[in-house]
Amino acid sequence: MQAEDLTDCVVDETDRGVFTVHRDVYRDPDIFELEMRYIFERSWVFLGIEDQIAKPHDYLTTWIGRQPVLVMRSGDGQVGAFLNTCSHRGAMLTQRERGNARIHVCAYHGWSFDSSGRNASIKDRKDACYSEAFERDDHDLVPVAKFGSYRGLMFGSLSADVPSLEEHLGETRFFLDLVLDQSPNGIELLPGSSTYVYKGNWKLQLDNALDGYHLTSVHPSFIKIVQQRHSGGSNNKLTALDFEAYRQRGSFTFANGHAAVWTRNPNPAIRPLYGMLDELRARVGEERANLMLDSRNLVLFPNVQFAENASLQLRVIRPLAVDRTEMRSYVIAPKGESAAAREFRLRQFEDFFNSSGLATSDDTTCYEDCQAGYKAHAVKWTQGYARGMTSVMKGANPAARQFGFEPATSQYGDVLIQDETIFHSAYREWRRLMARGAQADAKASHAYVEGQR
Ligand code: FES
Ligand SMILES: [Fe+2]
Repeated sequence: MQAEDLTDCVVDETDRGVFTVHRDVYRDPDIFELEMRYIFERSWVFLGIEDQIAKPHDYLTTWIGRQPVLVMRSGDGQVGAFLNTCSHRGAMLTQRERGNARIHVCAYHGWSFDSSGRNASIKDRKDACYSEAFERDDHDLVPVAKFGSYRGLMFGSLSADVPSLEEHLGETRFFLDLVLDQSPNGIELLPGSSTYVYKGNWKLQLDNALDGYHLTSVHPSFIKIVQQRHSGGSNNKLTALDFEAYRQRGSFTFANGHAAVWTRNPNPAIRPLYGMLDELRARVGEERANLMLDSRNLVLFPNVQFAENASLQLRVIRPLAVDRTEMRSYVIAPKGESAAAREFRLRQFEDFFNSSGLATSDDTTCYEDCQAGYKAHAVKWTQGYARGMTSVMKGANPAARQFGFEPATSQYGDVLIQDETIFHSAYREWRRLMARGAQADAKASHAYVEGQR
């Protein structure tokens, strides 16, 4: 596919009020293949948090696009990320999601590797009549081209041609710090995860975490249940969200495809963090402490979301096919919170976010409806990027200035705006990376043909 064909899939003419995305980006298997190569294999992808592999020899497995990755902490505490494939015939070295192992032994022919990725042994090496060339060869695991950690959030890239991780994250670090600073001891993921697969494109989940427009139409049952609890009509007194109270909000886009939405929470007592407010105020200041108690969803392109509303959730997106996506979601918690706050946090997560909760299943059904609707090939363009087009501004608005970060665009106002310009940054980045990848491939194949003459 030519770079121009991919560029044409995103029409970015906001000066004349037009921003639209071709439906083929959600339904064309060829485009999906290119997304894996040009986006997931050539940019920073979230891998996990260091706390998941806190002890020497701890490891976790994950994916960069469709390539299996093994992240390990070595005996001397260094963290490294490797392709999870044995040097011998290529079997995946470990299939488990997490564990602790000084040595990983391949199940196929028994080659073994230590927790720093070095080949520890080749089974029956003696008298095997290996050539000198083989003996000289490097048999270690192959590290990912770039590995980086921002305050314990681990990212990897299969391409070395990426900006520094700090540059990639840019101003989103303001929002990340609001998660990472919730305890003087840092954050942790609670044991277990909620993993599910939906029959839809990965970008449907990417968009949804920033989509304020769907709340009143997709989640009325949840809203009614919350109202019933408030009015005393239910024995369940759990409060996860207080929909009617929310008003003041802002949405912000950032360079490199990231975006965040923020909503002022007039009822901070419904947050598990509320009991730590005095400590938070003393440590991070009144304003940042208040922001930590607000609703904030942060989406880092292309595969991770931090959703702070009904508890604090980490969501990792793994594309499986053009119409199939695996989601893994975890509860994030500040280390050292009280048992009561921890219990409250878990109940909120189950209520709203869990795959059996009252919101996730509604959202997932809508993604599957969208994917089914995309089968109507006669319809080419989506119209879902237009709300807020006349009120979005470049750079920081007063809210962003007050909080002290510099977004690429910002939107601020009443909750009813339900901004859709917040999706623009991801599709701008999509277009940039897809065009760049196609151009690089075109050059590479051209050189190859010449070399063959
Ligand atoms: S594939 Fe791993 S030892 Fe043969
Ligand atoms: Fe939703």
